Amino acid sequence: MITQLIIPAAGLGRRLGLQLPKALAMLGNQSLVARTLNCLLPVEFTEPSIVIFPKGYEEAFREALSEVPVAIQYIEGGLERRDSVKRGLDGLNPDTDIVVIHDAARPFPPLRAVCTAIDATRQYGAATLATPVTDTILTDNGTGCLGMTPDRSLLWSCQTPQVFQVDLIRQAYGDERNTGISCTDDATLVQRIGSPVKLVDGGVMNFKVTTKLELAFANYLLEQGLV
Ligand code: C5P
Repeated sequence: MITQLIIPAAGLGRRLGLQLPKALAMLGNQSLVARTLNCLLPVEFTEPSIVIFPKGYEEAFREALSEVPVAIQYIEGGLERRDSVKRGLDGLNPDTDIVVIHDAARPFPPLRAVCTAIDATRQYGAATLATPVTDTILTDNGTGCLGMTPDRSLLWSCQTPQVFQVDLIRQAYGDERNTGISCTDDATLVQRIGSPVKLVDGGVMNFKVTTKLELAFANYLLEQGLV
């Protein structure tokens, strides 16, 4: 099986309040995107790995990733994450069977779980890292009041990597059941066309850096040697 990696990193990260894209924020002595990619190197993906950058930032990304010891193909992202991933899928090598899609914004991907997800994809066609929620989750009924309280024992918080057989994720992207829907991950598109997606526990350290607090927390974990 030939397995390739796509890193969507084309978000502007406005919630982080920086003047540069989130993926270029510094985490220790490296940018977020460089750390994320470096963490995944032991998986030994088929090269090149694909990095999706925001319009106008190709040179800055090339510079930020200049010391990562793998071949990288740079592709300009789109308006929504989904547009960015679609462009990445179009850039895969023709003989790639399995694609691993991992957001630049998750700098501590757990390697064992990533490998479990790749193995599960051979059986199920798709797998995603996720982790069971510990909070009780509420829905809003549309008026700012409590709508319903889903059974917590069934709830998982979605993460990446998400892993797919390439034909299946391409089919999901092209399927009319997924046209025009708003979607912040790719596994949901596969589930919507009726294919199973195996859930693999990625643990709490595989968190996403969205806010200043999470960036500070990620830096603290590194300084303390906890990751
Ligand atoms: O916005 P959010 O944090 O959910 O984005 C998840 C990942 O998708 C980030 O790594 C971000 O850079 C990427 N993204 C993208 N293209 C967009 C929007 C987000 O590659 N248009």
